[in-house]
Amino acid sequence: MNYMYGTIVFVHVVSAVLSIGPLFLLMPTIKRLRNVDVSTESAYLSVIHVIIRIVMHSGHMLVISGVLLILTGPWPWYASWVIATLAVLLLSGVFLSTGFTKVLRKYHLPESNKGDLLTILNRTSWIYIGLMLIMLWLMVQKPMLW
Ligand code: HEM
Repeated sequence: MNYMYGTIVFVHVVSAVLSIGPLFLLMPTIKRLRNVDVSTESAYLSVIHVIIRIVMHSGHMLVISGVLLILTGPWPWYASWVIATLAVLLLSGVFLSTGFTKVLRKYHLPESNKGDLLTILNRTSWIYIGLMLIMLWLMVQKPMLW
């Protein structure tokens, strides 16, 4: 059982790495998207799509392994750091789906202002990284907030 729990913690931490790390590639890629020709643009856009897909899948793995840790481990679901993480998680879910996916969908519309959309994407990436780091802190420190 201990070995099993350790394995889930390992999977959980690997998915945390994979759901934060690729975001740091997003900003330099977004920066390079400004004023490029169409073929370079579509190459960078497909990199952005891959990054978002990795972050999304590992985010799902993170939540599933987190739930398994609560179900099988010593921590109660009502511990304040778990509840605070869940609250931030809901926020970041909203950010990732609306902030990235909707903006990227708009990118190809002829009436869209690409410069503005890239600024929004960049800001969303920073907010998302901020939220992920807050959750990372809550998970590592496990503070009793109330
Ligand atoms: C559904 C949401 C989540 C739940 C229920 C959850 C649950 C847990 C639990 C119970 C542990 C304790 C494992 C142990 O030490 O025995 C843990 C550890 C950890 N979690 Fe989460 N987690 C969630 C989301 C996250 C997120 C979003 C991140 C990263 C941003 C994250 C990163 C970590 C890390 C790095 C550890 C290892 C910390 C340590 O034990 O020193 N978790 N998680």
